[in-house]
Amino acid sequence: MSQLPHLLAPLQLGDIVLRNRVVMAPMTRSRVEQRDLPGAMQVEYYRQRASAGVIISEGVHPSPTAQGYCRTPGIYSDAQVAAWRQVTAAVAERGGSMICQIMHCGRVGHADNKAAGGEFVAPSAIRCNAEIFTETGMQAMATPRALATEEIPSLIEEHVQAAKNAIAAGFAGVELHGTSGYLMAQFLSSGSNQRQDQYGGSVENRVRLVVETLTAIGGAIGFGRVGLRICPGNPFNDLYDEYPEQTFAELLKQIEPLGLAYLHVIRMASTGIDNLALARAHFNGAIIGNDSYDAAEAEQTIAAGELAAVSFGRPFIANPDFVERIGSGAALNKINFKTLYTPGAAGYTDYPALA
Ligand SMILES: Cc1cc2nc3c(=O)[nH]c(=O)nc-3n(C[C@H](O)[C@H](O)[C@H](O)COP(=O)(O)O)c2cc1C
Repeated sequence: MSQLPHLLAPLQLGDIVLRNRVVMAPMTRSRVEQRDLPGAMQVEYYRQRASAGVIISEGVHPSPTAQGYCRTPGIYSDAQVAAWRQVTAAVAERGGSMICQIMHCGRVGHADNKAAGGEFVAPSAIRCNAEIFTETGMQAMATPRALATEEIPSLIEEHVQAAKNAIAAGFAGVELHGTSGYLMAQFLSSGSNQRQDQYGGSVENRVRLVVETLTAIGGAIGFGRVGLRICPGNPFNDLYDEYPEQTFAELLKQIEPLGLAYLHVIRMASTGIDNLALARAHFNGAIIGNDSYDAAEAEQTIAAGELAAVSFGRPFIANPDFVERIGSGAALNKINFKTLYTPGAAGYTDYPALA
């Protein structure tokens, strides 16, 4: 009998079936070898981790402009859909499933990281005062162009197309990235969003893009296949919101009726906000908790009915068989932080599984 009966029990989140509640958290690894296109290394990396309840992919850009980091994959072309199909098929062959994280970086990024013609767009022309990793080291970011109101429908459509592409590529669902300083979070936050139109200013206006995007994606692929990732108070990538608790209370109030598959909440103790309590207060659907959990705490939290599932990031980098290891009480491999974003298989597909 497992010591983790709740954590290892199956679960259904909307229309997404999880073989257990040990979710692999989305993690950018900058390992793509051909521009924007997943390849054999991604097939192997995700295949190795197929025993996760469900794997949430690394952030995937819905257009060339949406890319911010180097060697990251896209999901806007037929070639990318075909390449992702190889990845999801390898995972499915081992009984696993995947969710595609749609990540538009907005003002975060560097021209060296993007395909030619990719732009920097944001709610307002306010530079992200931080540096970003590029092939030649850390570099400052450029001032973005403020999106015109008339461009918002095509921005939303780009997300809808990416979601349709994800389903065509064999993903069980999509997760909209709503934190860590990327485009959706830039719109939510008062520091980066100083627009005068219906997408900026009041809290009702700042949450509008996220609500409209989720509504459009759900309308296209079904709300039971759509999740949202949030982390109120997260300051990453120079993100600042004057009243994050108020912003997220309004956002959750508005998305509650949509019937999303799940809400994915990073608790991030350093924000000083109890993000899980905030989410529970304003969202009645299933919540996946994240950040610095170990198996014992995840088991206890799920057993107490506080979370539907828990996602694990760093443990899955170092342990392709993380689920089997926690199930049997085996020791965990240690993560090498030097190879998080380096090219090649080292630190990516060469962490050993138990025999
Ligand atoms: C190498 C690395 C890359 C990450 N990339 C993403 C990403 O693309 N999208 C995202 O939402 N979070 C990303 N994160 C955050 C993780 O999903 C997770 O929230 C974080 O690692 C905390 O969970 P943990 O304590 O289980 O590792 C990344 C984290 C790491 C370590």
